[in-house]
Amino acid sequence: MAAEAFVALLNEQIAHEYAAHQQYVACAVYYDADTLPQLARFFYAQALEERDHAMMMVQYLIDADERVVIPGVTAPQVEFADIVEPVALALQQEKRVTQQINALAGCARSENDFTSEQFMQWFIKEQVEEVATMSDLLRVVERSKDDPMEIENFMAREFADEEDSDPTAPHAAGT
Ligand SMILES: [Fe+2]
Ligand SMILES: [Fe+2]
Repeated sequence: MAAEAFVALLNEQIAHEYAAHQQYVACAVYYDADTLPQLARFFYAQALEERDHAMMMVQYLIDADERVVIPGVTAPQVEFADIVEPVALALQQEKRVTQQINALAGCARSENDFTSEQFMQWFIKEQVEEVATMSDLLRVVERSKDDPMEIENFMAREFADEEDSDPTAPHAAGT
């Protein structure tokens, strides 16, 4: 059982997370086609994280015995003016998702759905990290946009051993 209003909002969020997945794949492909493999690798990995977020929400609704509707997804932006634009877009997207996650936690609280409110806590923490990562990356990409190899070296150095398993993360459906 979860509050009806929360279930409706979480189903919408599943669509936003899948859209974020598609957007990050599009960013990765843009960099891959431009032979910037480190930027590409970073965005391919981010894309998988977004898919995981969607599947964590799916699992939560299944566990709560609530209706899950696997959504269609808005088409991502695939054309970019320069190598800065995908990162700027990603930062905007993470800021928007942060608002959505906060709205979900707020909804759960106002419905006295404390289980759902607790479920959202991990996502609140995750969004702090994702916004911080994308703002750092935007600064680096803006600073070195005329020297992409500098950016590639930075990515290889700073994001080489991103740890993947977070034992506090909610369980993702199918894993
Ligand atoms: Fe996400
Ligand atoms: Fe994200």
